[in-house]
Amino acid sequence: MQDAIWWKRGIIYQIYPRSFQDSNGDGIGDLAGIKARLDYVAWLGVDAIWISPVYPSPMADFGYDVADYCNIEPMFGSLDAFRDLLAEVHARGLKLIIDFVPNHTSDHHPWFRESRASRDNPKRDWYIWRDPAPGGGPPNNWVSNFGGPGWTLDETTGQYYYHAFLVEQPDLNWRNPEVQQAMHDVLRFWLDLGVDGFRVDVIWHLMKDPEFRDNPVNPGYVKGRPEIESLLQIHSTDHPDVHGVIAGMRHVLDTYPDRVLIGEVYLPIERLVTYYGQDLSGAHLPFNFQLLQTAWHAKKVCELIHEYEQSIPDGGWPNWVLGNHDQPRVAARLGEEQARVAAMLLLTLRGTPTLYYGDEIGIGKVDIPAHAVQDPWEKNEPGLGFGRDPQRTPMQWDASPGAGFSTGAPWLPLAHDHATRNVVMQREDPASMLNLTRALIALRRSSQALSVGALRLLDAHDDVLAYERRAGSDRFIIVLNFSMREATWDMPENVTGEIVLSTRDGGGGQDACAELRLRPDEGLVIRCHR
Ligand code: NOJ
Repeated sequence: MQDAIWWKRGIIYQIYPRSFQDSNGDGIGDLAGIKARLDYVAWLGVDAIWISPVYPSPMADFGYDVADYCNIEPMFGSLDAFRDLLAEVHARGLKLIIDFVPNHTSDHHPWFRESRASRDNPKRDWYIWRDPAPGGGPPNNWVSNFGGPGWTLDETTGQYYYHAFLVEQPDLNWRNPEVQQAMHDVLRFWLDLGVDGFRVDVIWHLMKDPEFRDNPVNPGYVKGRPEIESLLQIHSTDHPDVHGVIAGMRHVLDTYPDRVLIGEVYLPIERLVTYYGQDLSGAHLPFNFQLLQTAWHAKKVCELIHEYEQSIPDGGWPNWVLGNHDQPRVAARLGEEQARVAAMLLLTLRGTPTLYYGDEIGIGKVDIPAHAVQDPWEKNEPGLGFGRDPQRTPMQWDASPGAGFSTGAPWLPLAHDHATRNVVMQREDPASMLNLTRALIALRRSSQALSVGALRLLDAHDDVLAYERRAGSDRFIIVLNFSMREATWDMPENVTGEIVLSTRDGGGGQDACAELRLRPDEGLVIRCHR
């Protein structure tokens, strides 16, 4: 197990810095707060932390609008606070992955200020400027991911600039070698400081069709869905040239030992796996969000695992994500009982798991009253149900009024149940979601089969999914009941074992019978006898 590199055998824990721990009472989490909670992270047993952006930013998109790539937003701390955090992370044997947002900057970034100043500014071509369409209006039909046109007219120079997201997030022109150079310098800045890797924001957006052709209308568009889905994003994203620029970034990382490149890619599996790059020259881990998008049925999940495993190129390493700051929380989507089953799935599949802060205590649905809405997407396309605030609420540490997150007024409301659903209470309760998650992590870490072993799908029928993980004589069978009904499953012939974990009560210690009886919402990890 020691042979596998850390990002293969390890578990990643995503922290949304605004919401993890506030150290100065302003209601917004910060770097000193994260540092103060590192013992918890180490206790949980994960290997690496990924923090969402902490760069200076006007916060139009809560940090995904970067105004300076080589500094820290004062609200979160300072470069010294970052160095301090990094040292403390490393002192605990953990790794730190930071968010890298190369597709767009903030409109406050000095590069964009220069670029928009005049048509002949040396930085003009660092962004994507186009003349109005012949009859006037935007150059093409591209839509912003947050609704509305993807182009905004700059009155001073009479041209439009493209922004795949907010008006305040102009897209960089990655076809310009100076942009590539400048962004490689940014990567080196952080690598020299000692960060262990990057999660690259919307990596599949970096290169656009050089002819800027219209995107075709999506014939399957369903009214009431976000406007971005009304077009097929075939010319604005996933351009074949993107793989060259990713290889360029990867090349920079490869001059440092053991760093990881993770790419955010929302594409179907057959496109997703192309982000490993030709001869694995791309992302080490193109984030696999399929579990967030597949219907929660044993058969469907089985097909998904099969398709994904078959599609990964030779030498590529799989990964699975169950939650992030953009997607509804797993317990909100499935309910707490199935969220436990999902945690068991995530932590026993083959491939690096990414766990989202707060999912380990089962934070569920949080209602955000209209006056408390923060997410710019929700503000642009209100009421569709795609607002991301519910999954960004503060971490629930204890039963105090600010949940131990802040002594001030939190920037987003706390979940209504924070007084009873929190880390302090769940640490005490052996049957809690937190202790289940921790036990799953510990088991995965202790086992060659679970951390890096082979995966074989055994069965998916009715509500039950079963698979095996194996490395030499180290062998586990995982059986998951996806329903609220009792279920049975026959162990493979001549295989005996011991139940080591149940989602229902932590439990374990019993022999696995030939005919296994699963309680409603029960998942089991069985250690096979040799
Ligand atoms: C993906 C990020 O995860 C999301 O939060 C952000 O709004 C967009 N990229 C734009 O940067």
